[in-house]
Amino acid sequence: MQHRRLPPAARSSRLRPHDPSAAPARARPESAAPAQVPSAQPEWRKQRRERRAAAQADERRRLAQRWPLLPRAALPRDDFSVQLAPHGYMEPLLEELGPRVITVRGRLVLAAGTEPAAWAQNVWTAPRWLEAVSIGQAVRALTALQRNWRGHALPDSGHQRRQTLMEAALPHVGARPLSFGEPAPTAPLGAFTLWEHDLLLASPVTTSPFADGEAHFAENRTDPPGRAYLKLWEAFTLDGRWPRPGELCVDLGASPGGWTWVLAGLGARVFSLDKAELAPQVGRLPNVNHCLGSGFGLEPRHVGRVDWLFSDMICYPERLLQIVRQWIEARACAHVVCTLKFQAETDHAVSRAFAAIPGGRLRHLFCNKHELTFIWHEADII
Ligand SMILES: C[S@@+](CC[C@H](N)C(=O)[O-])C[C@H]1O[C@@H](n2cnc3c(N)ncnc32)[C@H](O)[C@@H]1O
Repeated sequence: MQHRRLPPAARSSRLRPHDPSAAPARARPESAAPAQVPSAQPEWRKQRRERRAAAQADERRRLAQRWPLLPRAALPRDDFSVQLAPHGYMEPLLEELGPRVITVRGRLVLAAGTEPAAWAQNVWTAPRWLEAVSIGQAVRALTALQRNWRGHALPDSGHQRRQTLMEAALPHVGARPLSFGEPAPTAPLGAFTLWEHDLLLASPVTTSPFADGEAHFAENRTDPPGRAYLKLWEAFTLDGRWPRPGELCVDLGASPGGWTWVLAGLGARVFSLDKAELAPQVGRLPNVNHCLGSGFGLEPRHVGRVDWLFSDMICYPERLLQIVRQWIEARACAHVVCTLKFQAETDHAVSRAFAAIPGGRLRHLFCNKHELTFIWHEADII
């Protein structure tokens, strides 16, 4: 493991604005012609958007065949929940819920019981059916339950316009992106959808303070390398806890440095580890000490007790489970935040093992892809 000291000049300030004179992580050779890049990227993005939309439409058709519309008499009445699948991750949610699944429409999964699934982006925990013979009746029924509602439109339902009119008639609910550090909204936020022309499915209680579980932040597009920093912003905001100034954090799989950038910006001391270098603007930060090496080789005895253990390493979730258990069992950290990254298959057995760790919680963040985020606090062990 190579240990590098930071030059003294780099210790003089905390987070600093992006230095355009600094070498970028992957510099373009001077001879490379940049002229085609600006026009090529929008076309590439457009194609990606189209591919994504086509895949989503395919998935909707497949699910609609597998789960035909239930007759009203067969709709669940009691002890059920609505679990919202993240975009593109319906299968892991259905696999996790297993026999609890009652029916599926769009991204909404009606499931027996109210226990939130880790793969659900938002869970409607108190759903009920409300008559919606007119828009006015629907709005009165919803506002009699509570003030704040956000609609979830079912694609291909044919009722989108009617639902939009209902949303417009409900009291306004602000939805501006959060600045990191602001607390998540605390007011209850209900969710509803127009299931049929004259039938609402509505829940005044949901598990996320954000509409459809989508936590949007005012992004920093200049300082952090990449967008992985948004995962930590979201995890910290939902959890309401993050490192305090001076706390010691170990960041495994830190390159190019988005998480390290967040932690250093909070004033924590960061010991980052990766087989690759950090982006220069992060490596220069005064409270960051980066090592080149494998996170598998770092044991608690090498660093002593730390406040926070982070891992965003690309590794089998089973391997990550061994590492996390080792640190927790050695009482070598007070908090853990890590990402379980799945390959083609979702390893639900390992997810359950993580979820069973006392003091821990497993959830799919809005920013997660085929991943789950595990958050653990020693103080939460009952
Ligand atoms: C998704 S990236 C991490 C992004 C990072 N959290 C950020 O915010 O910029 C995954 C990183 O894991 C690193 N990695 C994979 N296997 C590793 C290992 N055994 N030890 C340390 N780092 C590893 C990769 O080099 C890669 O930089």
